Amino acid sequence: MPCILGIDTSCDDTGVGLVLDGKIIANVVASQTALHDRFGGIVPEQASREHLSILDSVFTEAINQAGISLKDIDTVAATYGPGLIGSLLVGLSYGRSFAWSRNLRFLKIHHLEGHIASSFATENVKTPFLCLIASGGHTSLFQVDDWGSYVELGSTRDDAAGEAFDKIARLLGLPYPGGPPLSQLALSGNTDIYKLPRPLWVQNGFDFSFSGLKTAVVTLMDRTPNANRADVAASFQEAVVDSLIHTTVRAAKQTQLRRLVVAGGVAANQRLREKLKDQDLEIHVPPPDLTTDNGAMIALAAYRQLKTRPNSDWTTDAQPYLPLAN
Ligand code: KG4
Ligand code: ZN
Repeated sequence: MPCILGIDTSCDDTGVGLVLDGKIIANVVASQTALHDRFGGIVPEQASREHLSILDSVFTEAINQAGISLKDIDTVAATYGPGLIGSLLVGLSYGRSFAWSRNLRFLKIHHLEGHIASSFATENVKTPFLCLIASGGHTSLFQVDDWGSYVELGSTRDDAAGEAFDKIARLLGLPYPGGPPLSQLALSGNTDIYKLPRPLWVQNGFDFSFSGLKTAVVTLMDRTPNANRADVAASFQEAVVDSLIHTTVRAAKQTQLRRLVVAGGVAANQRLREKLKDQDLEIHVPPPDLTTDNGAMIALAAYRQLKTRPNSDWTTDAQPYLPLAN
C-alpha cells in the first residue's frame, strides 16, 4: 500500500497532501491570497519567500490530519513545472531533501498531470478522455489516451481563463483571486444586457483566446461608467463559459470522445458546471477543493506514475516552462 506525500508550490498556494493506496488521507493548502491581494496579482518573489516560511508547518499539519507518522511515507512527489521558478524550487528542494534523507523514492510531477489526476480522487475515470484544464495560468484541451500519453488539441493564445476572471474582477473592484467573487456577483446579474464577443468561435483548431474579451469589457466600462456591475460580471462570465464549452464540444465531436474531465481552478465555476450538464457528454469534475492547486493532486498523479515509471529521479530541475505534450 504506497503512502505518497505530494507537494505543490508552483504558484501562490502552498499545498501538501497524502495519498494512501490511491485515497486522499490529508490535503492542506495555505493560501497566500491576503499577501498578494493588495498588489492585484501574484508577486513572484513574495510568493517564494512565503512558501519557504510556511511549508514546514503545512507539512506538519498534513501529517497530523492523516494521523500517520513519518516512517509510514514511502514515496515523495513534488511539482517540478510549469510555474514560478522560485516557488517551484522551494517545494521541489523540500521534497527531494526529505526523500533523500530518509532513503525514500522521489518522483517529479508535471503540475498539469496533477490537475488531470484530481479527477481520480473520487472515481476511476476510464481512458481515453478529453481533459479541459482551465486555471489561472493555463487553459488547454488535451486528449488523454492513457496515463502519461497526452495530445494537446488546443490552448489559449493569450490569457488563461482564470487570469481573465482575475483581471475583470479587479476592474469591477473585486478582490483577488477574482473567479469566486465575480461568479458570486454574476448571480444577481443578467447575462443578456451587454453583448460581448465569443473569441475564436469559428476556427479549424481548438484554441482559446480571452484578451479580446477582456478588452471588450474594459471598453464597455470606459464608455458606460455607470454600467450595472452585476450585469457586466454575468455577461463576461457567460462569454468565458460559452467559449470554453463551444470549443470543447467541437473537439469531442471531432475526436469522438464523449468522456470529459474538467480540471483547474475555473472548474469550480458553478455556471460552467451547470452549462456543461446540458451537453451530450459524460462529465467528470473533481470536488471544488481539488480543482484549485493542492498537494493531494500531485500525490494522486504520483500514484498513477508508480505503475509505469516507479524509479526515483534525483536530477530534476525546476522548469518554469514545461509543455505536457509535444
Ligand atoms: O488551478 P489554480 O488554483 O491555479 C493555477 O494553476 O493557476 O487556479 C486559480 C484560478 C484563479 O485565476 C481563480 O480566479 C480561478 O482559478 N477560479 C475561478 C473560480 N474559482 C477559482 N474562476 C471562476 N470561477 C470560480 N468559481
Ligand atoms: Zn494549477
